Amino acid sequence: MNILIIGSGGREYSIGLALKNRSNVDKIYFNPGNGATDMLGVNIPIKDFSELADFVVANNIELTIVGPEAPLTEGIVDVFKARGLNIFGPSKVAAQLEGSKIFMKNFLSRHNIPTAKYIETNSLEVAYKFIETLTPPIVVKADGLCGGKGVIIALSHDEAKKEAGEMLSGNAFGNAGKSIVVEEFLDGYELSVFAICDGKDYVILPAAQDHKRLLDNDEGPNTGGMGAYVPTPLVNEDIYKKLEDRVVKPTLKGMQEENMPFTGVLFMGVMVVKGEPIILEYNVRFGDPECEEIMPLLKNPLDLFYKAAIGDLANAKIEFFDKFAVGVVMASKNYPYSDSVPAEIIVDDIVHESLSENSHISYAGVSRDKDGKLYATGGRVLVCVGVGDSIKEAQQRAYMLCGQVHFAGKQCRSDIAYQALKIEG
Ligand code: AMP
Ligand code: GLY
Repeated sequence: MNILIIGSGGREYSIGLALKNRSNVDKIYFNPGNGATDMLGVNIPIKDFSELADFVVANNIELTIVGPEAPLTEGIVDVFKARGLNIFGPSKVAAQLEGSKIFMKNFLSRHNIPTAKYIETNSLEVAYKFIETLTPPIVVKADGLCGGKGVIIALSHDEAKKEAGEMLSGNAFGNAGKSIVVEEFLDGYELSVFAICDGKDYVILPAAQDHKRLLDNDEGPNTGGMGAYVPTPLVNEDIYKKLEDRVVKPTLKGMQEENMPFTGVLFMGVMVVKGEPIILEYNVRFGDPECEEIMPLLKNPLDLFYKAAIGDLANAKIEFFDKFAVGVVMASKNYPYSDSVPAEIIVDDIVHESLSENSHISYAGVSRDKDGKLYATGGRVLVCVGVGDSIKEAQQRAYMLCGQVHFAGKQCRSDIAYQALKIEG
C-alpha cells in the first residue's frame, strides 16, 4: 500500500518511520516533508488540496494521514472524501474542536464534559466582570489557532485584564484573539491522552506526558513541547475509565448527534485535579512530541490509521509493545523566541548495540543541502527517542543518544520524565 503523510515535523517523521519499519507499506510520500523525511520516502511540495488529491489518484495512494491541525481546519479531509479517497483525520467542521476554543468549550458544556469554569466573549466589559469573580492565576485564551501561543496564565486581576484587552483589540493575535475565553486556573498535573476514532468507535492509547516549559523543573517560557514519555504511571485504571465514560463516549455521541462524526485523533489535554480528569483542551491530531514516543510502541501502526480512516476500528488489531519510550527534544539556539542561524547537524556513529537497537532520532526542523548535509533550521530540530523496559532505561537511552548529536546552539532539557521517575524510583 502507498501512503501519503501530510506535514513536516518530527510527528510526521515518526509516523513514516513506524510504518516503514513495522507495517506492510510500499511507497511513502510526505507533503511537504522535511530535510530528513526523504530518507523514508519522497517529499512532494504541492500546496493545493485538489492538486494533491490528483496526485494521490495518479500514484495509487490508498491512505493519506494528516499530521498537523492547519490542513484539517482548512478542510483537506472534506476535499479528499468528496473524491472518494481514504484519509485519516476529522472533517473541517469537526476540526473546530481544535480550531476554535469557544466552539470546544461550548461543546464540552453542552455535553456536560468536565472542563474549567469559563466565559466566552468579545466584550472587554464582560471579560473584566468575569475576571473579578476569579482568584488568580487566571487563564485568558484567544479563540483561534495561535501556534500554541494563545494561552496566557495571568498572575493578577490586572494582568488578566491587560491580556484580555490586548487580545480583544486584535493587537496580540489579530483575528484569532477577537473573541476570547477566560477561565479558572486548574491546579494539578497534565496528561496527553489520545483516542483514535472512526466516527462511532474508539481506541484509547496509553497516556503520555509532555513537558511544555523550555527549562528543567518546568521553568522558563512555554514551548510546543520539549519532551514526552509513554506510558505514564500518573494515570491509572480509574482515570482511564473516567475519561472513557465522561469524555470520549459523550464526545463521540455528541459529535454524531450534531452531524459531524469525529474521525482521526481526539487529543485530550487533561489536567488531573485531586484524581479527577478535567479537559483543558481538545486537539484533533497527535501531539508533537508525544507521537514520537507512541509510534515506536505500536506493533502495527498501519492498522490503526487505515481502519480508523475506513470506519472499521471495531476490527482493528491495535497492540503495543510492553515497553516505555522517552523522547527528548533538541531545539535550536533561540527557540522559542526567534529564528536561529542554520547549524550543521553531526550524529556520531553509535557503537553500542543496545543503544542503536533501542533508540532513534525523529527529525523535525531540518533541511538538507545539495551535498546531503543536514542542518538545524527549525525551532524544534529533532527528538532523540529511547525505548526500554522501564522509564529509567528508556530515559537513559534517549539521553545517551542526545550525547551523540551535535549542532551549534543545541538546547534540551535534562529532566524529561522526572515526574514519572519520582514514582518509578
Ligand atoms: P491549551 O492550549 O489550552 O492546552 O493551553 C496551553 C497550556 O496552558 C496547557 O497545556 C496548560 O499547561 C495551560 N493551561 C491552559 N488552560 C489552563 C487552565 N485552565 N488551568 C491551568 N493551566 C492551563
Ligand atoms: N505537545 C503538545 C501539542 O502537540 O500540542
